[in-house]
Amino acid sequence: MTHFLDIHTTDPAALRSIIDTARRMKDARTGRPRGACDDATPLAGHMVALIFEKPSTRTRVSFDVGVRQMGGETMVLSGADMQLGHGETIADTARVLSRYVDLIMIRTFEEATLLEMAEHATVPVINGLTNRSHPCQIMADVMTYEEHRGPIAGKKVVWSGDGNNVFASFAHAAGQFGFDLTFTGPEPLDPEPALRDLITIERDPRIAVAGADLIVTDTWVSMHDPQSARERRHNQLRGYQVNAALMARANPDALFMHCLPAHREDEVTSEVMDGPNSVIWDEAENRLHAQKAIMRHCLGC
Ligand code: CP
Ligand code: NVA
Repeated sequence: MTHFLDIHTTDPAALRSIIDTARRMKDARTGRPRGACDDATPLAGHMVALIFEKPSTRTRVSFDVGVRQMGGETMVLSGADMQLGHGETIADTARVLSRYVDLIMIRTFEEATLLEMAEHATVPVINGLTNRSHPCQIMADVMTYEEHRGPIAGKKVVWSGDGNNVFASFAHAAGQFGFDLTFTGPEPLDPEPALRDLITIERDPRIAVAGADLIVTDTWVSMHDPQSARERRHNQLRGYQVNAALMARANPDALFMHCLPAHREDEVTSEVMDGPNSVIWDEAENRLHAQKAIMRHCLGC
C-alpha cells in the first residue's frame, strides 16, 4: 500500500518522481480546456466554482445542473467554509481560484465583493445575486415573458413592493430591452436614486397597474435586510400585496412573476401565485436555460 503521510517518511526518489510527474502534467495542460463549442457539451473539461455566502435553492441547483448538462463539472463552495470567511482577501481568493477553475459564480452581500472578485480573477465571474442586483434572474424573466407574450420591448412592467436588488436588475433591463417600468411602493423603500431615470414611480398601486402587461413582486424582507426591520417593512408594504383585486386592474392578459422564494399571503396571495396568469414555475425553469447561455457568453463557447 502506498500512502502519502509525510515527506520524511517518503522515499526521496519517489518525492522527485512526484514533482517530475506534476511538472509534466502541468506542461501538458496548455491554456484553458476548451469544449467542442457545440451545443451538446460546450463546457466539457471546464470546472465551475459556485460560491454562496447566502442561502439559495434555484441559483445553486440551476447553475449546477446547467454546467453538468453542458459537459462541465462544478464545485459548490460555502463562503463560510472557505478561507474567504476567515480573513483571506477577496482579491487573493480570486487569484487562487482562477488557477484551478474556469469560471466563478458568486452570490454575496456587498457589490464591492463581486467587483473585487471580477477585478482580480483571471477567469470570468458571474453575479449570482448581491445586495444590489440579481441579473441572472432578470435574464430568465425577460426570456419567460417573451416565451409567453412575444417581444417585451414597449410593454408595461409594474413592480409592486420593495425597491430591492431584483428590482434594480429589472430597472437595468428596462433600459437595455426597451420596456417601460413602473415602481409602486412606499417612499422609504424606493429604489436607489441612480435608477430613477429608468423608471416611473407611482405611489398608488391601483393606479400603477393600469395597462400593465406584467406585474412583479418579491419578498418584503431580503436576505441582507436585518430581521429587526421585518415588522416595519411588513407594515410599510402591506398595501402593495399583489392579489386578485390588483391583478384585475391590469390588462386581462397581464402575467405575474416572482423570482421566488415567495411568502404566500404576504407580498402575493396564493390565488395569484397559483392562478392562470402566473408564470413563476417557467421563470424558475428558465434560470437554468438563461444561465447556460450566460456561461457560454462568458467562456466564449
Ligand atoms: N430566485 C432565486 O435566486 O432563488 P434562490 O435564492 O433560491 O437562488
Ligand atoms: N430580494 C431577495 C431575492 C432572493 C432571490 C433577496 O435578496 O433575498
